[in-house]
Amino acid sequence: MDSIWIQGGQRLEGRIPISGAKNAALTLIPCALLTEEPLTLGNLPRLADVDSFGHLMNELGVGTQVAGKKAGEIKRRITYTADDITSTVAPYELVRKMRASILVLGPMLARMGEATVSLPGGCAIGDRPIDLHLKALEAMGAEIELAQGYVKATAPKGKLPGGDYEFPVVSVGATENAVMAAVLTSGVTNLFNSAREPEIVDLCNCLVAMGARMEGIGTSHLQITGVEALHGADYDVMPDRIEAGSYACAAGITHGSIELVGARAADMLATTNALAATGMLTEFTNDGIKVTASEPLRPLAISTAPYPGFATDMQAQFMAMMTLANGDSYLEETIFENRYMHVPELRRMGADIDTRGRSAIVHGVEKLTGAEVMATDLRASMSLVLAGLAAEGETEVLRVYHLDRGYERLEEKLAGVGATIERRSK
Ligand code: UD1
Repeated sequence: MDSIWIQGGQRLEGRIPISGAKNAALTLIPCALLTEEPLTLGNLPRLADVDSFGHLMNELGVGTQVAGKKAGEIKRRITYTADDITSTVAPYELVRKMRASILVLGPMLARMGEATVSLPGGCAIGDRPIDLHLKALEAMGAEIELAQGYVKATAPKGKLPGGDYEFPVVSVGATENAVMAAVLTSGVTNLFNSAREPEIVDLCNCLVAMGARMEGIGTSHLQITGVEALHGADYDVMPDRIEAGSYACAAGITHGSIELVGARAADMLATTNALAATGMLTEFTNDGIKVTASEPLRPLAISTAPYPGFATDMQAQFMAMMTLANGDSYLEETIFENRYMHVPELRRMGADIDTRGRSAIVHGVEKLTGAEVMATDLRASMSLVLAGLAAEGETEVLRVYHLDRGYERLEEKLAGVGATIERRSK
């Protein structure tokens, strides 16, 4: 199994190209189920999860074809064609590997009048239920049955009538499923307290490009008027704000300066505000965002929240950076109950962190020291890479498959700004 080996202590400086957003790609791909015509997605990141989603689509009878691939080209375009859906069942073997598989439920139900998806089960960062996905679909007229670990959703007359639903808590995944189901209903759907993440705006914009009718994009009240059919489209995935934020933390923790090429400032104000609060300089350039750490990092107080708040997907990376800040930082994780699994590993590298429930106090220390470490989820693994970049000596991050789910060409991008880093096969 591969690992990432890092010789820490280099100041990182240069430009890093930001890839297409994983979390947007994984909700745009299932949109292909909503039409017989081809949906071409550009700026797709080369990530294990994007490939896994492609396999799931193939399993359902959707054709996938790589479009416009040239030698050496980084960005990739894939055309997904669902002209003949041959199965409405997303099996356990595939859903188990990738939670985002649940996002075929809404569009499959809308197009075929039925969908059966394995329940995703527990997950390393917490319980992660799907009750709100199901309640929203029920409010639109779906009948839901749970049996043998699968959820089966049916539209009683073959087509959902649509309806209103207010999410009791903001859920990104449930909003995505509900929006994808609503676009082909025979009526009007109002979704209140919807998630407003930029990835949801990307989803809505893609659906509009496919002929969907909706109002309130980017707000918490989405009003969707169902249409008879959607058509194909050619749509580019938005830049990955979490990848960009992660590399900004790499600049911070190494007292470096990195231009995040292609990053979209408007999507990541909570992150850039937090970077500025550490004393880092953030400049909005023609090509993206340039972040520079020229003075000792100041400590922070951060609480994760749905967008436009501070993203839970940035918590672990900021925590790594705060281990070397000049004082005590306070972090609160409000989205997931079990998202501090990087803490014991950071401690092994010399970090001084106390956690109690969802709160953490990070006491800044003088230095970190390299170690062999591993994490159980994607962003936690990235926090260990960041710690390794700043640590004295060698760090080896095991279980690289977590990083491969969310960071395209990680070692290449970091080496490009001066890190001593490589992938090793064991
Ligand atoms: C969440 C994050 C998203 C992040 C992703 C991966 C938020 C609001 N969402 O999205 O930014 O990219 O994890 O780390 O920050 N919930 C229920 N029932 C449901 C669905 C969700 O109770 O049916 C709860 C969850 O337990 C959680 C909260 O709602 O406490 C938000 O979950 P949700 O946004 O759905 O999770 P993801 O879509 O995975």
